Amino acid sequence: MKNTVDRRDFLQKSSLAVAGSLLLPQLGKSAIQNDAKVRLGFIGVGLRGRNHLHNTLAFPMVEVTCICDIDPQAITAAQKILREAGKKEAAVYGKNEHDFENMVKRDDLDGVVIATPWEWHVPMALATMKAGKYAGLEVSATVKLQESWDLVNTFEKTGAHCMLLENVCYRRDVMAVLNMVRSNLFGEITHLQCGYQHDLRGVKFNNGKQPYGGGVEFGANAFSEAKWRTQHSVDRNGDLYPTHGLGPVAEMININRGNQFLYLTSMASKGIGLHKYVVDKGGEKHPNAKVNFKLGDVVQTMIKCANGETILITHDTNSPRPYSLGFRVQGANGLWMDDGNQIYVENVSAKHDVWESDEAYMKKYDHAFWKQFEQEALGAGHGGMDYFVLRDFILSIQNKTTPPIDVYDAAAWSAISPLSEQSIAKGSTAVAIPDFTRGKWKTRKPIFALETT
Ligand SMILES: NC(=O)c1ccc[n+]([C@@H]2O[C@H](COP(=O)([O-])OP(=O)(O)OC[C@H]3O[C@@H](n4cnc5c(N)ncnc54)[C@H](O)[C@@H]3O)[C@@H](O)[C@H]2O)c1
Repeated sequence: MKNTVDRRDFLQKSSLAVAGSLLLPQLGKSAIQNDAKVRLGFIGVGLRGRNHLHNTLAFPMVEVTCICDIDPQAITAAQKILREAGKKEAAVYGKNEHDFENMVKRDDLDGVVIATPWEWHVPMALATMKAGKYAGLEVSATVKLQESWDLVNTFEKTGAHCMLLENVCYRRDVMAVLNMVRSNLFGEITHLQCGYQHDLRGVKFNNGKQPYGGGVEFGANAFSEAKWRTQHSVDRNGDLYPTHGLGPVAEMININRGNQFLYLTSMASKGIGLHKYVVDKGGEKHPNAKVNFKLGDVVQTMIKCANGETILITHDTNSPRPYSLGFRVQGANGLWMDDGNQIYVENVSAKHDVWESDEAYMKKYDHAFWKQFEQEALGAGHGGMDYFVLRDFILSIQNKTTPPIDVYDAAAWSAISPLSEQSIAKGSTAVAIPDFTRGKWKTRKPIFALETT
C-alpha cells in the first residue's frame, strides 16, 4: 500500500514538474511593444463590439481610428467610451449597411474587429482582407458552408489574415487543461465533450430596450441579439453556436495542425422551449406564440477526427438551465470534467475510482499567459479571457504574423454549424467535414498559446 501511495505521489510530482518546465510557453519574443502603434477599426459597436472597444483601453499602443455601425445609438455609446478614456473620437461610418466597405479602405488602419450579426461576418471579413487589413472576427465566423471556403480562398489570394476571436480558448481553466494535455497527464486523448449550454431565452426575447428586460419581442422591435439572433432559431435546426466549446478542445488535439475533423453526425431533440417561454411570458394570444421555431432545444453533434478522437458538442440555449460549456477531456490515463470541476487520473489521483477536485491541478498547470497577465486580464470581460484574445490579435498585427486562431480554424470550427443542419435534415446521417487546409494540416505545427505570435 505504501509503495502505491509513493508511486502515485511520484507520478503526480513528476507530471506536474513536466508541466512546470518543458511546456510553459516562452513569452519573451512575443512581448507586445508599447511604442509600435496598432490602428484598429470596429464594424459593429453593439454590446460585444463595445466590450472589445473598452478592452482596447488596456493597450496603450492601440489607436481606434474608425468605427462603423448602422445604429446611431451604438455609435454614440462607443464614442463615449473613447472620450471618457481621454482618447480622440473615431471617424464614423454607418450611413447604410455597406458603409463598412468604405471604412476598411482607410490608410490609417491595420486591423478591424468585426462584431456584427452572424450573417454579416463573412462579407465584412472578406472586405477587410481584400483591403489588406487583419480581420478579427467574432464567433461563429460563418453561417453557410460556402462562407468557410470564401474566408480560406480570400486569405490564400490576398495573404491578409483572419483571426477568429474565440475568447473561450483563453479561459483560465481551459488553458490549464491545455497544459495538462500537452504534458500528457491524461495520456493519449480519446474523447472530448463541450458545448454551448446557456439559457438565452431572455436574450432571444426582450422588450426592445435591454436584454433580460422582460418582453417576448424579437426582430426589428427588439434589442441587441434579439434583433437578429432569434430568427436563426426560426429558420434553422442545427448547432447554431459551436465554437465556444469546440475551439478549446480543437486546440487540445491540434485540429488543422496534425489532426483533422473527418465527419459528423447530428441529432436534435424536439423544440418546445422558445414557444413555452413566449406563452408563459406573453400569453397564448401573443403574435409570437404562433411562430414555428425550427431549432431543437438540445442539439448534439458527434465529430470523428483523423487521429481517432471523438468530440461530442451540445447546443442548448432554449431551456431553463445554469450556464455550462460542459467540457470533458478524456485520455487513456484519466479525464477532467468542467461540470463539478473534477478530475481523475489513474495512479495519480489519491483514491481509485473516486473523483478529486481539480483545484490543485488548476493552480499547478496554470498557463504562463495567466501567470504573467492576471492583473491586466481581470479588468476585461468574461473573467479575463477577453483580454487575451484581443492581445493575441494585436500581437499578430504588430508582428505581422499568423494569428494563433487563424482562418483555417475559423473555417473548420464554424462549418460545424451548417454541416450539423445538413446531418439533421438527412435523418442524422454522417456528413463529411471538408479539409479547409487542403492537406496542409499534415505538416502545420501547433501555435496556439505557444511562442509563435
Ligand atoms: N465571444 C463572445 O463571448 C461573444 C459575446 C457576445 C456576442 N458575441 C458575438 O458578437 C457578435 C455581435 O453580438 P452583439 O451581442 O454585440 O450583438 P448586437 O446586436 O448588440 O450588436 C451588433 C451590432 O452590429 C450592428 N450592425 C448590424 N448590421 C450592420 C452593418 N451592416 N453595418 C454596421 N453595423 C451593423 C448593429 O447595429 C449592432 O449595433 C455576434 O457575432 C455574437 O455572436 C460574442
